[in-house]
Amino acid sequence: MNHRFMRYALSTLISFMLSFPLVVHASETTSGQDKLKILIDTDPGVDDAFAIFWLMSLVKQGFAEIDSITTIGGNVIPQKTFLNASRILALGGFAHVEIARAARSDYKCLGGSSEDIFGDDGLGGVAMELPESSHNYDKARKADDLIVEKLNAAPGEITVVSIGPLTNLAAAEEKSPGILAKAKEVVIMGGAFRYRGNMTSHAEFNIHCDPNSAQTVFKSRNDTVILPLDASHKILVTEEQANSILETNPSSKIAQFIKKFNSFMVLSTLSSRDSHGIRGFLVHDASVLFYLFYPETLMNIRRAEVNVETKGQFSIGQTLIGERHFAKPEANSWVVLDVDEVNMSAILVEDLKTLVSLDGSKSGN
Ligand code: BDR
Ligand code: CA
Repeated sequence: MNHRFMRYALSTLISFMLSFPLVVHASETTSGQDKLKILIDTDPGVDDAFAIFWLMSLVKQGFAEIDSITTIGGNVIPQKTFLNASRILALGGFAHVEIARAARSDYKCLGGSSEDIFGDDGLGGVAMELPESSHNYDKARKADDLIVEKLNAAPGEITVVSIGPLTNLAAAEEKSPGILAKAKEVVIMGGAFRYRGNMTSHAEFNIHCDPNSAQTVFKSRNDTVILPLDASHKILVTEEQANSILETNPSSKIAQFIKKFNSFMVLSTLSSRDSHGIRGFLVHDASVLFYLFYPETLMNIRRAEVNVETKGQFSIGQTLIGERHFAKPEANSWVVLDVDEVNMSAILVEDLKTLVSLDGSKSGN
């Protein structure tokens, strides 16, 4: 009896002591000091939507703040990506976040858009079921103006995350040379180095859409972080995982949409033969958030001089690393070439479960 009491007392004491660092940590992350301030440049797109949902979870957990969103045509036309971003924000309780429209609305993705993968609306046919958009495309600021203003107002504070073609970032750099160097970091999902392309054999979609803009962005600073297909082709959310997210809170609208998006994407990913026959879909755009919040999942990071092929007849949009052993004073990027996919998938799903379990309690930034 005495022995059991001692064990109980000891374990109570240990959990009491352990609770201190946890309490301190929680208050640090919610004080605002440790929050990453993020500007997302995006072309939603179902995997963009998943990345944004995940970011909402991280915001609600006190780790980040969504500063603003800039949209660009890519997966679908600019007007649709703008509306999709607005509806996704409304669903998550973030309707107050500013959304900018494409810097160049006449711009067309070089290889055409991705309706074949993401559906005509870019969101697997369910865009119109999402809450109404509260942003107005015609009245919205242009992305390049917003990026220039935000980075000038808070140099070194805003992390720019791009998960679409790089047209907006390049337009900002052209409008105000040196502006991207004022971001805290620039983190990009794009490119394919050792892994095959998904637009052509050698080119990844975001870079292939607008190769000249991509080259402008890679030249804009010397520490751009690139998450290419080499890393992102391993980030899969399976049908079972989507079900488990829904089971966490079946009445959550976000969980219901995650399930709908997943069901659509499972079929389109199988037909595009990109998931090794597994019933799941590739959440390429989530890769950037692993770099920012779970860097332990990144396995092979190369310091490199990256260039984009802007003219090749068969290789336009290819991203290239300088490999020869000559000095490289022009090294401009950190390229992630491999990842811990098992833990990535588990982390993403758990954070999405956290989001849906909070769904109903509108908290925003
Ligand atoms: C990238 O291309 C787009 O279709 C996805 O949204 C992602 O940003 C993957 O190559
Ligand atoms: Ca995208």
